[in-house]
Amino acid sequence: LPPKLVDPFARTIDYLRVSVTDRCDFRCTYCMAEHMTFLPKKDLLTLEELDRMCSAFVRLGVRKLRITGGEPLVRKGIMTFFDGMSRHLGNGLDELTLTTNGSQLDRFAQPLWDAGVRRINVSLDTLDPVKFKDITRWGTLDKVLRGIDAAKAVGMRVKINTVAIKGFNDVELFDLLDWADRSDLDLTFIEVMPMGDMGEVQRLDQYWPLKDLRAQLATRFTLTELDYKTGGPARYFEIGETGQRIGFITPLTHNFCESCNRVRVTCTGELYMCLGQEDMADLRAPLRASESDTPLEDAIHAAIARKPKGHDFDYSRQQVAGQTIRHMSHTGG
Ligand code: GTP
Ligand code: 5AD
Ligand code: SF4
Repeated sequence: LPPKLVDPFARTIDYLRVSVTDRCDFRCTYCMAEHMTFLPKKDLLTLEELDRMCSAFVRLGVRKLRITGGEPLVRKGIMTFFDGMSRHLGNGLDELTLTTNGSQLDRFAQPLWDAGVRRINVSLDTLDPVKFKDITRWGTLDKVLRGIDAAKAVGMRVKINTVAIKGFNDVELFDLLDWADRSDLDLTFIEVMPMGDMGEVQRLDQYWPLKDLRAQLATRFTLTELDYKTGGPARYFEIGETGQRIGFITPLTHNFCESCNRVRVTCTGELYMCLGQEDMADLRAPLRASESDTPLEDAIHAAIARKPKGHDFDYSRQQVAGQTIRHMSHTGG
């Protein structure tokens, strides 16, 4: 029988998200503050430590590995890490992938494909170059679009992640849909989560519940829920009129914690059992304390044994509850 990590609520943990850097070449307003203090290099897990840690998780039963950040492709030497991880594909690991802002993809698409990456998620919230610059604080839309094309050209399946923001991309809903359809991209909408130190007012103002988004879609299209699953939190629907597949990630309006299958590790080796909770376990200490992986594996088991039931994000009483002070870029989503 293959090994398994099972939490106190009988959920099997087979999906690991690993942030390899807290840095990013963008500053999306819902993710980072404009002026961020980044971590000193010595605090980061080295590429070798990242490899040891991920390999330990694969040995313990992780079948899906997603690299995040910050922006994972700005981490120096990251392809060495991907190349190393590819040895696990077919040997315990089913999927090696990443979530990226797309800005470096034109250079990285081919080497990532060669390392076995077949499906990637690219964050993109608007198709308007001016608004794009605005939300990322200085990103260039064109570069990201070129990156997406490069990924498609090498054969990757690309999914676009769009954070649904009221007063920002609500007016673009049908344009985004049409673009994704024409470009043969999957599209997933995400409810904005209260993370980081932004004011409450701003978050509530930005909040565009996906049930409202769906209602807007229903004015033109018929949606049918699909059986399709990617191992992430999205629920997928098919648009009858175009055959297009779109996903919804709804931590606020439809909690999916019950079927949670994942944990995440920050670039300093903190294992967070839940995106919306503060409890974590330090994996860097056991990694650095011993050449043996036993203390590391023990620390992982001990942490999984206290994985909480779920997050406490809640906007329902017209105030933001369950907020964490960590920035999204710290845990990588
Ligand atoms: P797929 O493999 O395509 O299903 O990817 P994914 O949705 O698992 O990963 P991605 O990095 O694209 O994440 C999309 C969004 O889902 C991000 O905003 C994440 O923060 C959010 N997300 C992923 N896992 C969780 C989770 O356990 N809890 C919450 N609240 N949000 C999550
Ligand atoms: N709420 C929801 N999604 C977020 N992301 C970043 N910050 C937030 C937030 N506060 C998304 C990014 C990326 C993914 C990893 O998380 O757009 O697609
Ligand atoms: Fe960078 Fe992604 Fe955060 Fe935007 S959401 S600032 S692209 S890490």
